[in-house]
Amino acid sequence: MLKAFIFDLDGVITDTADLHFKAWKKCAEKLGIDIDLSFNEQLKGVDRMGSLERILEYGGKANHFSIEEKVRLAEEKNDDYKELISKITSVDILPGIYPLLVRIIGGGFKIGLASASKNAPSILKSLGIDEFFNATADPNTIDKGKPAPDIFLQAASILHVQPSDCIGIEDANVGIEAIKKAGMFAVGIGDHLKEADYLVKSTKELTLDKLLKAWNKR
Ligand code: BG6
Ligand code: MG
Repeated sequence: MLKAFIFDLDGVITDTADLHFKAWKKCAEKLGIDIDLSFNEQLKGVDRMGSLERILEYGGKANHFSIEEKVRLAEEKNDDYKELISKITSVDILPGIYPLLVRIIGGGFKIGLASASKNAPSILKSLGIDEFFNATADPNTIDKGKPAPDIFLQAASILHVQPSDCIGIEDANVGIEAIKKAGMFAVGIGDHLKEADYLVKSTKELTLDKLLKAWNKR
């Protein structure tokens, strides 16, 4: 029985995926590495240090930096990212998401967040929707990031619901994999998420009625 909806943040609730890309592009440029939007698809859902490692590998510089240097690079990227997200307000909520959250609460379901981002709690506050969330999984306490199911399982556990009673919503391939491994019903946003149980092109198409229909057909 459906009891909860567990959302990814970046690229699902707000378009921070683009801001992450801007900050990573600046970081990569400093290192003489050029990344584009198609490479950025591989960074979606991947944690901060994991993203840096992928950029270094892509630029053929995987073994060029010490751990301390990598930590500093990741911190600099995060400082730039924090500057970019400092301007976020409720107008940055992606289309369809606010009414969806309202309908979910109205329908008596719970809402959780399963984001790899350590900035997620402050972004939810800036968007003015933090109070809709009954649980926010903490990526600082997660051993294995997406595509491991851990972050989705933690959100379900805080909500006191079984994973099989949850719908997970994601915009990244690794996120869909994590939802499926957690044993949840996977909703994908974008046209490239072939493994999703239900796929929509944009958040505009995410309505409670459509999600319930897809759930009932599963
Ligand atoms: C994920 C994003 O939600 O969070 C990734 O899709 C990002 O692009 C990751 O790297 C970690 O975010 P942060 O804010 O902790 O650096
Ligand atoms: Mg995402």
